[in-house]
This record gives sequence, C-alpha cells and structure tokens, in this order.
Amino acid sequence: VVTLDDASIAADMARSLVRGGLKIVEITLRTPAALRAIEVIAGRVPEITVAAGTVMSLEDLRCAAAAGASLAISPGATPTLLDECRDAEIPLLPGIATASELMAGLAAKYRCFKLFPAGAAGGIAVLKAFAAPCPQARFCPTGGITQDGAASYLDLENVPCVGGSWITPPEALAHQDWPRIEALASRAAALRTAAPR
Ligand code: 3PG
Repeated sequence: VVTLDDASIAADMARSLVRGGLKIVEITLRTPAALRAIEVIAGRVPEITVAAGTVMSLEDLRCAAAAGASLAISPGATPTLLDECRDAEIPLLPGIATASELMAGLAAKYRCFKLFPAGAAGGIAVLKAFAAPCPQARFCPTGGITQDGAASYLDLENVPCVGGSWITPPEALAHQDWPRIEALASRAAALRTAAPR
C-alpha cells in the first residue's frame, strides 16, 4: 500500500517491488499525484497489477480505471458504494470492520473484502470469528500489518493475501532507496512461498 507525493518515482518504485517478487501494488488516492502514478505504473510496468486505494465513490473508481487501475479498494463500504460499484469497469474490494458490514457486503453480492483497519478491528481473532458464520467470505487485512505479523494472518483459511505500507517506508521513498524497497518486497514475497493459497 503506497502513498506517493511524486508520480515521477512511481515506475522505479513499482520495478523495485517486481524485482522483489511482488505482483500487486495499491496506490492510495490520497495525494494529487496518485492518478498519474497509477497511469505511469500501468503504462510502464506491466509486470505488476496496479490497484487504486482509498476509493470513496463510483467517481473515484472510474477515474482510477481510466488511469489504468485493475482493481479498486475502499477503506469502508457505504450501501451506495456497494450498489454503484458492483458492476463497474473494475472490481471493488470493499472495506469492512464489523459483522454487520460484512453481512451488508455479502448481501450486495461481494465475496472478497478488505478488513480495515485490521489490527484495530480485532485482527486475527475477528477473522477467525467471521469464518464461522460467513465461511464463504475472503479477506485482505490491511492496517497495522507488519512483516513479522503477516504470516499469522496468511495462515488463516479465509485470508489469501495481506496488504500494508511496511514495504515502502516513506523515508525509503523520499531517498529513492530502491535496493531497500526491493529487499523489503523480497521478504514480503517470501511469505507467499511459506503459506501458499
Ligand atoms: C491504508 O489504507 O493506509 C493501509 O491499510 C495501510 O495501512 P498500514 O500503513 O498500517 O500498513
């Protein structure tokens, strides 16, 4: 999960992730540079799938799709967002944090969700609890995940992937420290080998 202030480093950043073995990057729509960064990555680094994060509306999703994003991710899920984005140009991974939000998402025909903020919302315990009444749901927990904590999430049957900003620390981005980002990406990619699903 990457928040970029400068789209001119987007391609180098994405190539560092690819060299480390990662296949997907979420660019948050939190800065004026975000849509351009998505466009740059989609156009110049085809080895990686680019998702748009912090999508709050159908309009955000459409702008992200037009920039080249393959996936939209929202921190939460209003009934309007769930309804409007269900058949949109690109899929939405809606954010949920409670059983009621999960039920609303399932009722709206979504099956994959972002658990956000994962750590603060209950982390592994809440994902285990959701598995009993809603075994069909799958989750990408983000928010408070670390390299050391990620493996325990990936051990869960209902967690095919996790996300987080630990792979692209702001200071590494500011210094364009691509070897460091590649090394962090490589450690993160190794988690997949350890827990294939
Ligand atoms: C976010 O949307 O900011 C992500 O969930 C990243 O959270 P993190 O910075 O705690 O990894």
